[in-house]
Amino acid sequence: MTKQTVLTGITTTGTPHIGNYLGAIKPAIEASRNSDFNSYFFLADFHALIKCHDPDRVARSTREIAATWLALGLDTDKATFYRQTDIPEITELTWILTCMTSKGLMNRSHAYKASVDANREAGKQEDDDVTMGLFSYPILMAADILMFNADIIPVGKDQIQHIEMARDIAGRFNHTYGELFNLPQAQVDEQTQLIPGLDGRKMSKSYDNTIPLFASSDELYKLIKQIKTDTLEPGQPKDADNSTIFQLFANFATEAEQADMRRQFENGIGWGDAKKQLFEYLDAYLTKPREEYNRLMQDLTFVEQQLHKGAAKAREFATPFLAQARIAAGIRPLTYTEAAPVQQEELKKEKSAEQIARAEEGRRRGILMQLKSVLEQVAQADDKAAAAREVLAAKAAEVEGLKKKAKQKAQNELDVLQEEFAQYL
Ligand code: TRP
Repeated sequence: MTKQTVLTGITTTGTPHIGNYLGAIKPAIEASRNSDFNSYFFLADFHALIKCHDPDRVARSTREIAATWLALGLDTDKATFYRQTDIPEITELTWILTCMTSKGLMNRSHAYKASVDANREAGKQEDDDVTMGLFSYPILMAADILMFNADIIPVGKDQIQHIEMARDIAGRFNHTYGELFNLPQAQVDEQTQLIPGLDGRKMSKSYDNTIPLFASSDELYKLIKQIKTDTLEPGQPKDADNSTIFQLFANFATEAEQADMRRQFENGIGWGDAKKQLFEYLDAYLTKPREEYNRLMQDLTFVEQQLHKGAAKAREFATPFLAQARIAAGIRPLTYTEAAPVQQEELKKEKSAEQIARAEEGRRRGILMQLKSVLEQVAQADDKAAAAREVLAAKAAEVEGLKKKAKQKAQNELDVLQEEFAQYL
């Protein structure tokens, strides 16, 4: 069986913090040690340009994030670790996919809609400050994913819609040009969505409540002292489960250490003391990787080389795969002749049953997307059965009138329509 591919990207706009570490970096590095999967991790620096127009910040963040992953022990021989902008195939695929994406799908994107809503509320023009980058963001992200035919995409909840859009876009491509892309699936870890920041809300750049992963010891202590607590005095019992200090501690400590800290909370540990213990624990945990991080930040040539190595590995897959997408869409050498369908069949045979089922589901979704207006028309008709029969008859007539490839496409549509309308007939 072919290995499944796990892929995720990190937008290079900020400094890695403890929430990023626990929620994304640590689980990804652990997963990359599991040789049942191929892992692709990348710096999404083109995505950074969507949100951030401060070039120094983008460049700094790219360095920091690259050094962070390496300092934490990512094995760049096992995982493929690269920078999005080192893979020109991704940008090229973005265009091909742009032409497979309906504008309506992008109109529904949460990120875009949030900007429009904010503008409306502020009494501004709907699209004020909305760039085409923001609007088409999900297409670039789909290209990131589809370029490597990835199966599993570990992301935060806010990204689930983007993975669904990647599936829709892949389905439309497959339906139009023939089966090429796997349908990716989001993987969301509920547990790690809950890392609290200094003010008790989810730790996030946008709340300005983060603890940078590699802050110096002094800075770390200063930040930990800012963690919000209540007014309970030393000696009064405290509820560990409702304490940011305890939750942060628990995400790093062993079971036994957690139990001990819990007992101290019950026995009324003072907040100052609890903070001191959290600081000492974190500081000890982070000392080694922090040293390595600082060393790497002084040796960016080495970091750059690691990224180049990753890009070369990534392109071993991306270059021939993009060629397939181009050929499928008709971007071909003038001398190209449709060669080896046999090879295509061979490739298909290697897919697992699950991959085939998912590809099939994607094909259906792709077809449904294109038939949306007919489906709605029938669903809204007074006599749904009559309307459905009418559509089916028209489609059947179309199938009859067509030749080979076009006929197969229309036949597929007819099959899907028959299934969809079974409820009315
Ligand atoms: N948009 C993602 C985020 O902001 C980052 C990202 C870009 C990504 N491309 C991706 C994540 C592809 C997963 C797969 O978090």
